[in-house]
Amino acid sequence: MSEQLVINGGNPLKGHINIAGAKNSALPLLAATLMTEEPVVLENIPLLDDVSTMLSMIKGLGKQITQLEPSKVRITGPIKINRAPEELVRKMRASFLVLAPLLGTVGEAEVPLPGGCNIGTRPVDLHLNGLSELGTEITQTDGKIIAHANELLGADIFLDYPSVGTTEQLLMGAVKASGKTTIYNGAQEPEVRDLVHFLQQLGANIEVNGSVLTVEGTTKLTGGTYKVLPDRIAAGTYMVAVGSTGGNVVLNDVRPSTLKQLTSKLRNAGIEVNEQKDTIEVISESRPRSLEVITLPYPGFPTDLQAPITTFLALANGKSVVKETVFDSRFGHVAELRKMGADISVPNSSTLFINGKKNLRGTKVSATDIRAGASLVVAGLAATGQTVISGTEHIDRGYSNLVDNFQRLNADLDRLHA
Ligand code: UD1
Repeated sequence: MSEQLVINGGNPLKGHINIAGAKNSALPLLAATLMTEEPVVLENIPLLDDVSTMLSMIKGLGKQITQLEPSKVRITGPIKINRAPEELVRKMRASFLVLAPLLGTVGEAEVPLPGGCNIGTRPVDLHLNGLSELGTEITQTDGKIIAHANELLGADIFLDYPSVGTTEQLLMGAVKASGKTTIYNGAQEPEVRDLVHFLQQLGANIEVNGSVLTVEGTTKLTGGTYKVLPDRIAAGTYMVAVGSTGGNVVLNDVRPSTLKQLTSKLRNAGIEVNEQKDTIEVISESRPRSLEVITLPYPGFPTDLQAPITTFLALANGKSVVKETVFDSRFGHVAELRKMGADISVPNSSTLFINGKKNLRGTKVSATDIRAGASLVVAGLAATGQTVISGTEHIDRGYSNLVDNFQRLNADLDRLHA
């Protein structure tokens, strides 16, 4: 049964909501639980489809999982199988992150090449090169990676690009390697830091100095309890939504220091953003001004907020430019936003020119990936009339309680089972 999201736009958002734990942190943390047999309790796990996929994955590899509370799980026991099920890896790219934990713990792993969001070519060459440098023998047959290492060996690794997944994969490999590993030009995203903190809590010896991560290998990790950091991309999506619809919203359970790039852009556009220790208030009283946005690895502007902020700029006063430098094809939302009246041109595959319009109008649109879906929700909330979004399964992969949260904030939207 296909599902649609129906939004009657035009209500300014007001009220307060709590932000769940970060998807992009929970997924590597869950993969990392494979590295210890002892019990690990993860708190603040977001309730969304990608997390269910990763839980099924580690369960399929032998771990015992107990749901203690809706967002709290206990994971324990040894790995029993070292082959990752194809249907799960194809569903979600982050499931490829089980490779290093399997390899470092049981010496051999078979993992299909990943699928996931439809946002351009997303190779895994950096993951594989780095694992080779740690002493892994890798063969690739029938769309599968077969990796073998009697022992992983520490190494100096220079990444050509600060890839988030690669840094996480190699960090997990390095923790299980003998000797010292230094990863240069590593990703600095808060979710990578969260994985570092989690592994440190389990006994790993890791030092971080900007983009350089130094690891002294540890064969045995302990158990422990860890709380997943708040989702900056979900929080950012709500912030952009308030900027687009107008209104006054307080987001609780956020880490404002991880949202500085967005906060600064929104302030430049004329939106009031007030940060407290773990809350952010967004007040939007007049039409925002146009901006230039360029996506970059952290601490640059996040590519995962590129689609949502494009909607915001489609409604801003003036001409904006958006440059996407992280992924080579991440404009799936543009054609759909145009159907809603947005004036956006694509002079080349990494640039958008946006001529802000006073209004967007509701119509039928389709989500092509998680963040493109989020940008259409924001557009629907701000538009005049009714917007019907199909492809909601993409949105459900990445946003927990999205409909409930927006309903709490005075929006008129609901799921429709067609
Ligand atoms: C993670 C996030 C995703 C976010 C992205 C960039 C998770 C689960 N997902 O994805 O939401 O959009 O970071 O912030 O955390 N690349 C290669 N070779 C590789 C690996 C990556 O060329 O081996 C390229 C990719 O094609 C892309 C760029 O590097 O162009 C960034 O990718 P990466 O940082 O690895 O993103 P992910 O970890 O997949």
